[in-house]
Amino acid sequence: MSGKELRVKDQIEIVKLSKGSGAKELYVKKIRNGSVIDHISAGHALDVLKILGIGGGEGHIVSVAMNVSSKADSKKDIVKVENRELKPGEVDKIALIAPSATINIIRDYEVVEKTRVKLPDSIRGIVRCANPACVSNAGEPVEPKFLVERQDPLRLRCFYCVRIMEKQDVLKQF
Ligand SMILES: Nc1ncnc2c1ncn2[C@@H]1O[C@H](COP(=O)(O)OP(=O)(O)OP(=O)(O)O)[C@@H](O)[C@H]1O
Ligand SMILES: [Mg+2]
Ligand SMILES: [Zn+2]
Repeated sequence: MSGKELRVKDQIEIVKLSKGSGAKELYVKKIRNGSVIDHISAGHALDVLKILGIGGGEGHIVSVAMNVSSKADSKKDIVKVENRELKPGEVDKIALIAPSATINIIRDYEVVEKTRVKLPDSIRGIVRCANPACVSNAGEPVEPKFLVERQDPLRLRCFYCVRIMEKQDVLKQF
């Protein structure tokens, strides 16, 4: 045991680090493998978990940080999921509710891949139109399609009808 005890020198080093004197601080300990979804719009971490289908009962090891300070005066949320890499469909959904998110793949403790999510000019298949009378809800083989009028705050326009969908309307479907 004694060999594993912290020496005074190490303890001083840890105190220095935790004061954040320029060193990078982590809110949770490093993960070996998995995904870090960073720069999520503050307050939306739980929506990201919902998109990933994580309710807590699946057994994934998940860490969430909400409203932590990012640059200067802005705040962000972060989600870290161990041993899970994201599927493309999940990345598209995250882009809808957190357009500035970055997805970092961690392997052996290091960031090996970083993707900035991106909303295309039009989206298909991910969201259903909220207008029951829309042709995309008529049981016809018409795939829902929306034009992205604005990214943040989100504003989608149905390609087929007059309906405008905003973030809250989209979140209800996830
Ligand atoms: N092994 C790890 N376990 C947990 N989180 C990690 C790990 N490695 C990096 N991170 C976190 O992943 C995110 C991206 O890491 P990176 O080292 O690229 O930071 P960065 O340079 O600040 O990136 P960005 O420019 O995207 O903000 C950060 O939030 C970082 O704290
Ligand atoms: Mg950073
Ligand atoms: Zn429609």
